[in-house]
Amino acid sequence: SGEEPPSTDIITLTRHVLNDQFSLGAAATGDLTLLLTAIQTTSKFIATNVRKARLINLVGLAGETNVQGEEQKKLDVLSNDIMINSLRASGKTAVLVSEELEKAVIIEDRYKGNYCVVFDPLDGSSNIDAGVNIGTIFGIYRIRPGSQGTIEDVLRPGSEMVAAGYTMYGSSANLVLTTGHGVNGYTLDASLGEFILTHPDIKIPPRGKIYSFNEGNSMFFHPPVVSYLNSIKYPASGKPYSARYIGSMVADVHRTLLYGGIFGYPDDKKAKTGKLRLLYEAFPMAFLTEQAGGLATTGTKRILDIVPKSIHERCPVFLGSRDDVQDVMKFYKETA
Ligand code: AHG
Ligand code: MN
Ligand code: MN
Ligand code: MN
Repeated sequence: SGEEPPSTDIITLTRHVLNDQFSLGAAATGDLTLLLTAIQTTSKFIATNVRKARLINLVGLAGETNVQGEEQKKLDVLSNDIMINSLRASGKTAVLVSEELEKAVIIEDRYKGNYCVVFDPLDGSSNIDAGVNIGTIFGIYRIRPGSQGTIEDVLRPGSEMVAAGYTMYGSSANLVLTTGHGVNGYTLDASLGEFILTHPDIKIPPRGKIYSFNEGNSMFFHPPVVSYLNSIKYPASGKPYSARYIGSMVADVHRTLLYGGIFGYPDDKKAKTGKLRLLYEAFPMAFLTEQAGGLATTGTKRILDIVPKSIHERCPVFLGSRDDVQDVMKFYKETA
């Protein structure tokens, strides 16, 4: 008694996004849905490879260095190739920017569509070989009216993105998406091969109890960051915050969205503009965070307002619960 039969009316990601479009009426063309279908396919394909990595010799280095000076892992390269191939073949893209490719890919006329996708094919590379959660991050712009698809179509503030999200490869694959109307989370049902709506309308608690920074960099941190971290570790009243840092942005942001708190990767005396990349790490995560009711700042300005000058530029990041992020901003104001 009391046990419910399984639902016969599940909401897949595609159904959910299509439903959004019905409510938009004539404005919607279905193109974005088809693009998101291609992205879902890449996530399933990458998830499969992540799961089998240890068994099919996909751990370790690929032997090349990317434009950021990082040694590429085999899974970085494979995930990049999966995404480029699938996004090109979708016929819905015009410009692609990947962490792993120095230059933007301009799609040839035969396959050209109206969207630009910026992505981090495999986030958390340093965690691959230990089997710790990793992910894929993406942001989507519509090309500017009249454009044939150039780099200018992606050198635009994050506030102009039409959609953004990530897939986290953990105990299950979780795709978290915004199309500018809140944030929804979907879990891959491997037996169906579909992402099912499991986390409708994600909202970040206004204040959290967790901070997520790589404090190993403390000796390089600037005064506002040091003072802020001291304030939550040695509070005048109440309990100190708990520390959680995975070192995969996707996983650290995922926890922050669900539990609240703050994730930070500041600029410091060594990393002059921080570490995280504006287009395909900071922007998508900032978009998701704001849509979930949180804030995302460099410490002094809203991340989504930054106008990128180059596709691989970096920026400082603090994001998460509204009150926690406002606290950091106060420390920046005080020392300005
Ligand atoms: P990627 O694996 O795509 O190069 O990104 C790594 C990023 C991000 O995932 C994470 O938040 C950060 O690097 C961790 O950096 P540290 O190892 O310096 O803490
Ligand atoms: Mn990398
Ligand atoms: Mn990354
Ligand atoms: Mn990466």
